Amino acid sequence: MIRIAMTKGRIQKQVTILLEQAGFDMTAVREMGRELVVTIPDDLEIIFGKANDVITFLEHGIVDIGFVGKDTLDENDFEDYYELLDLQVGKCDFALASFPDYADKVFNRRKRIASKYTSIAKRYFAERGEDVEIIKLEGSVELGPVVGLSDAIIDIVETGNTLKANGLVVIDRFLPISTRVIAGRTSFKFKKDEILELVARLEMAHGN
Ligand code: PRP
Repeated sequence: MIRIAMTKGRIQKQVTILLEQAGFDMTAVREMGRELVVTIPDDLEIIFGKANDVITFLEHGIVDIGFVGKDTLDENDFEDYYELLDLQVGKCDFALASFPDYADKVFNRRKRIASKYTSIAKRYFAERGEDVEIIKLEGSVELGPVVGLSDAIIDIVETGNTLKANGLVVIDRFLPISTRVIAGRTSFKFKKDEILELVARLEMAHGN
């Protein structure tokens, strides 16, 4: 039995399709209501959680495998895992975004940057030698500049529709993101064959 933690929402939809293409019967996931744990044939148990919590479940050895975005992996300190596969879905980019005049503006104070990804944001500006104030927002980060809370944001951009709808533009697109399959190191040690078989099936379905 392999236990998997999957990020709810967009990743869940795309990975469900990939697992079906890999030959797994995902009916239970397709038909699930508010359940959070689903067992599927071929000895898989899938738990559904928020992205950061997928890391927590792996960290504590609750699950063997996680399906999680590169954005979440980069934001967290967790390093005790092996990345086994890039599923090439859930593709988007990290970007610095603001109003179009941001680049020409002169700031006589520390810039304020809103982000849900405060570690990524800190690293981005530290690498560029800029001392900025990072303000944490939990979602709808685009509100930062729109309501005057921040000068810019660091966020993920997929279609760019949210930025556009709020009068914002990408200033710097700096890090590509996609969904990864990761295994906890301890699980990998004890369930190596089972885990590699699952990855091989996904790889074949995916045409990697
Ligand atoms: C993400 C991100 C942007 C949006 C980008 O938010 O934070 O707001 O998607 O997508 P787009 O470029 O296709 O418009 P998400 O929908 O995950 O929710 P959140 O705002 O609650 O974080």
